[in-house]
Amino acid sequence: MLKTQAFREAFGLAIPIVQAPMAGSNGATLAAAVSGAGGMGSLPCAMLSPDRIREEIAAIRSATANPFNINFFTHTDPLPDEAAQARWRARLRPYYDEMGSDPNALTNAPGRRPFDADACALMEELLPPVISFHFGLPEAGLLRRLKAVGIKIWGCATTVAEARWLAERGVDAVIAQGAEAGGHRGIFLTDDPVRDASKQIGTLALVPQVADAVGDIPVIAAGGIADGRGVLAALVLGASAVQVGTAFLVTPEAATSAVHRAALKTATDDGTAFTNLLSGRPARGLINRVMAELGPISRDAPAFPTAGAALAPLKAKAEAEGRSDFSSVWSGQAASLAVEEPAADVTRRLWAEAEALRQHFL
Ligand SMILES: Cc1cc2nc3c(=O)[nH]c(=O)nc-3n(C[C@H](O)[C@H](O)[C@H](O)COP(=O)(O)O)c2cc1C
Repeated sequence: MLKTQAFREAFGLAIPIVQAPMAGSNGATLAAAVSGAGGMGSLPCAMLSPDRIREEIAAIRSATANPFNINFFTHTDPLPDEAAQARWRARLRPYYDEMGSDPNALTNAPGRRPFDADACALMEELLPPVISFHFGLPEAGLLRRLKAVGIKIWGCATTVAEARWLAERGVDAVIAQGAEAGGHRGIFLTDDPVRDASKQIGTLALVPQVADAVGDIPVIAAGGIADGRGVLAALVLGASAVQVGTAFLVTPEAATSAVHRAALKTATDDGTAFTNLLSGRPARGLINRVMAELGPISRDAPAFPTAGAALAPLKAKAEAEGRSDFSSVWSGQAASLAVEEPAADVTRRLWAEAEALRQHFL
C-alpha cells in the first residue's frame, strides 16, 4: 500500500477514495460529505454557471477544511447543424405526437460548458486544490496558468495512449476510466467517439496497463468499484486510489433525481448500456425506453452536447409522470452493490472493507 500512502500524502487525504464528479447529480453537499470523511469530494462544473460554481465552492469550504476536487469538461462545442437537428427531431416525432409535445417549442439543451479562459480566471481566483478534466485537457496556455498557481491537475484516460498523452502534459494523476463506469466515456484521442464506444476497455485490463505506461504518476481507478473488494482489487492492479461514482448516487447527499433514484433501486449487472442518444457522446446508463427503442447507439443523434435539446420536453413530461423514458439515468455496472447510507459512511466503509480484506489476503 506504499503507492496509496504516497497518494494520500500528496493530496492530503486520510482515505484514497475519490467521489466521482457527476454533473447533474451532485453538488457541494455530497462533495463536502466525502471530503469531510477524509476522502476526496468532487464538484462537477460542466452544467454550472460561474456564479453557481462560486457558491458551491464556498459551500464546500464552509463545511470542511479538507481538500476537494473541481471537475470540468474540455470538449469542443460543435458548429450549429440545423440539418442534423431536423433529422433528430424527425426521428423523435412519434414521441412528440404520443406525449402531445410541440417539437418546435424546444427548450434549451442541458448545457455542458467546456473549460475556457473565463473558467480559468475563476479557478485562479478560487484556487481549488485539484481540478480534474474529462475529454482531455485545456489548451496548453490555460493549463500552465492553473499549474502556476499551484492547482494539481488530474486527467481521465480510457486507453493507454490517452494515459501517455496526459502524462506527457504533466498531469499530477491519471484517472483510468474502465468500461464499467457510469456516465460519459472520457474518450478524447479519437475522431469518432461514437464508433469507439464498442472498443472500451474494462477496469481490470485498463488499470495495470495504464499503471505500467505512466510510471511514477499515480493512477486513480474508476469504473465498477462499489465496495471494498473493488477498492482493494484496483490497488492490487496498480492504482494509488479509486474514483467511485454510482455507489454515491443513492446517498442522501447526492442530487440524484427522483426517477434516477427509483431506476437505480432495481439496477442489475446487465441493465446498463452505452448510449449517445441523450447527449451525443457515448455514456453508460440504465437502459430506458428511448435507448431500447432507438439505440442505444444511433448516428441520428446530433453531436455532443446538442442531442439533449430535442429530448428535453419529452424528458420533462415523462419525469412529471415518474418515468425515466427520456432521461440520462447514468449508472455503472456495479449499481446493485450500492448501499443507501450517508456518503461519509460509504467512504469510510469502502476503505475499512478494503483494509480488512488486505489483512485477510495479502
Ligand atoms: C451520474 C454520473 C454523472 C457523471 N458525470 C461526470 C462528470 O460530470 N465529470 C466526470 O469527469 N465524470 C463524470 N462521470 C463519470 C465518473 O467520473 C466516473 O468515471 C464513474 O462514475 C466511475 O464508475 P462508477 O460509476 O461505476 O463508479 C459521471 C458518472 C455518473 C454515474
